[in-house]
Amino acid sequence: SANSHDTAALTARIEKRWAFLMVSIIALLVAIMIFTGLHWAMMPPSRVETIDPSTLHVSGEFVESNLGSAVEPNGSVTVRIVGQQYSFTPQCIVVPSKTPITFRVTSADVIHGMLITGTNINSMVEPGYISTFKTEFERAGDHLMPCHEYCGVGHEAMWANVKVVD
Ligand code: CUA
Repeated sequence: SANSHDTAALTARIEKRWAFLMVSIIALLVAIMIFTGLHWAMMPPSRVETIDPSTLHVSGEFVESNLGSAVEPNGSVTVRIVGQQYSFTPQCIVVPSKTPITFRVTSADVIHGMLITGTNINSMVEPGYISTFKTEFERAGDHLMPCHEYCGVGHEAMWANVKVVD
């Protein structure tokens, strides 16, 4: 009858909508997966830069003579710091104001942390990894740079100075 024909048509239409909805949901999930993958792929590679903590002092970027501030060819400054129980090397870090600064920090032993007072710089310092962050100081001044992750009995005494000069 005409009535059952209508019902069948309606059912087919509803099924089509459900199928469309399901395909849309799957497409959305795939899109989220791709977006998340791209998002992580686009994060700075420094996030996963690794280094062997047992050879820091022997060779490579973090040998003692290479620590502290270095001016790059483009005028920016790179600061390399090693944290260890219970100090940062170097203890006094001098950087220019109004200049892009890149900090590269790693640990020679256990997990430390570092923050620079008066800035939003705050990072974990983990053995085996290089923590990298960029900043720029607007004006000259002195900042304390304490370890903020409990790292042993000498934790409270672990800190450095950051001196910003014009
Ligand atoms: Cu190093 Cu706390």
